[in-house]
Amino acid sequence: MKGKRAFRILFIDGPNLNVLGDREPSVYGRETLADIREAVTAAALTEGAAVAFFQSNHEGEIVERLQAAKRRFDGVVINPAAYTHTSVAVRDALLYSGLPAIEVHLTNPASREGFRKVSLVEDVVVGRICGVGGYGYTLALLALLRHLRREGARGRA
Ligand code: DQA
Repeated sequence: MKGKRAFRILFIDGPNLNVLGDREPSVYGRETLADIREAVTAAALTEGAAVAFFQSNHEGEIVERLQAAKRRFDGVVINPAAYTHTSVAVRDALLYSGLPAIEVHLTNPASREGFRKVSLVEDVVVGRICGVGGYGYTLALLALLRHLRREGARGRA
């Protein structure tokens, strides 16, 4: 990384993820969002990346944070939570940001209720990581950094 600017990655979490650890533990486990962020921060340090975190229970706040992320970040890791299945606004804001994104879910929505099988962002993200709990956030960071490094290498070729 010598001489190179660190990639800046924004983590966005949607509704009810602030109560992770206490929320339906049989489905989502006992790990809290703070635990996940700690693991991500450690991985980012190893990778030489800069990370920032945002969680909101409000759709408009997520939209505004994505809008503001344009030009300020290099990529986004997003768990839109319930908004995954409903929010055209979050999808549009992600597209506006123009940033490469990885979609993360703690659970595997494909193996749950029918309404969770639809993702309104799945076709506008680089990739999706589902069903491996909080570890998915660290995997998403590594996958996004790999994507950004490859894009950078392609840009210089
Ligand atoms: C979730 C899956 C969504 O269906 C649900 O509404 C969530 C969490 C997950 O991480 O598994 O809030 O995004």
